[in-house]
Amino acid sequence: MSDKPGIPRVDLPLDARLDTLAVREGLPATPWGENSEALFLTSSFVHPDAATAAARFANEEEAFVYTRFTNPTTMMMERRLAALEGAEACIATSSGMAAILLLVMGLLKAGDHIICSQSVFGSTIKLLGGDMAKFGVETTFVSQTDVDQWRAALRPQTKLLFAETPTNPLTEACDIAALADIAHAAGAWLAVDNCFCSPALQQPLRWGADFVIHSGTKYLDGQGRVIAGAICGPQAEIEGKLVPLMRSAGMCLSPFNAWVVLKGMETLSIRMKAQSERALALAQWLEAHPQVERVYYPGLASHPQHELAMRQQNGLGGAVLSFIVKGQAQGGAELARKRAFHVIDSTRICSITANLGDTKTTITHPSSTSHGRLSEEQRLAAGITQGLIRVAVGLDDVEDLKADLQRGLDTLTA
Ligand SMILES: Cc1ncc(COP(=O)(O)O)c(C=O)c1O
Repeated sequence: MSDKPGIPRVDLPLDARLDTLAVREGLPATPWGENSEALFLTSSFVHPDAATAAARFANEEEAFVYTRFTNPTTMMMERRLAALEGAEACIATSSGMAAILLLVMGLLKAGDHIICSQSVFGSTIKLLGGDMAKFGVETTFVSQTDVDQWRAALRPQTKLLFAETPTNPLTEACDIAALADIAHAAGAWLAVDNCFCSPALQQPLRWGADFVIHSGTKYLDGQGRVIAGAICGPQAEIEGKLVPLMRSAGMCLSPFNAWVVLKGMETLSIRMKAQSERALALAQWLEAHPQVERVYYPGLASHPQHELAMRQQNGLGGAVLSFIVKGQAQGGAELARKRAFHVIDSTRICSITANLGDTKTTITHPSSTSHGRLSEEQRLAAGITQGLIRVAVGLDDVEDLKADLQRGLDTLTA
């Protein structure tokens, strides 16, 4: 549920800044005066009498009713995230993928058309390109970076442009303002998956996007504890189209998970800065290593969209980098995969897991994990080769991380 006018706001100055909003936006304390936000683990709420219950169910009176669509802890998380993104409203979902599903089901109908970057997260490609096609919503996949391809893919039925920036795992940035112009000129919406940057680095609505998608599983929680998602955007669409669908379809966030994300957001900005600094240092070190063919990191001057990314991302590259281990040119895909596996298996600090956004640094082989369900053709279109390794840098000491990767890189055999 997004912002309900009948439910009071926290008394904050209107010009409170992001770091203050991150620790204070939500709901006023209960009569008990708790300083840390309460966790309301309850499936339903009690009404004083039958007539009040009827008015609340009919949406005539603002109140909490049933946790599938209204819960104070979830609302605190929604208000806080909306404030950080500079959005009118926010609706929390059970996962990042549920957020994308809710957005598409809530805004589109059979016959509508989506344009999506071909470099987005693998499950997003599956959902938009495969599952949604069953319901008559067609998706055209285009280059992440070539704005002309987005324009050329427009049809009279195009209702949504969907982008993710930077992308997983190659950290390609797209020009949010340029895509917003294309969408709006065609009467379509632009949605941006802001999972990699979080609002601490990038606020897509400021660049003209209409909706922001989050996997709260990543940096919003920040410690790899829960699966969560959210959509931020205009009040009219969230209240009018997404909240009613949530009420019927039920992809709601558990209040416990909402509470974890709510408290995670309190340290979001300092984590994003510290993790970005470590990621930059690691990327620079990898770029100089003789066994590394290429490093993908928006904070590096060698990144093709370095300037765009720095402009959109508050001058920071984020915490995810990818690199290709040398091998493909010498021995093809099989050798490249073997060498990438050797580097991953030689680590003792990095967690071998496809998740990202954790304080613990994670390492994965995208081709066989996050993008394993795609065809080789789809993977290659997204630039994901067998020698590619993704590292999501946490708060580990960066010298330990260098040593962890060096162990495998220095012992590579043909
Ligand atoms: C960019 C991006 N968007 C969306 C998702 C999906 O989020 P969730 O796992 O919370 O469903 C992920 C998950 O890795 C992701 O990396």
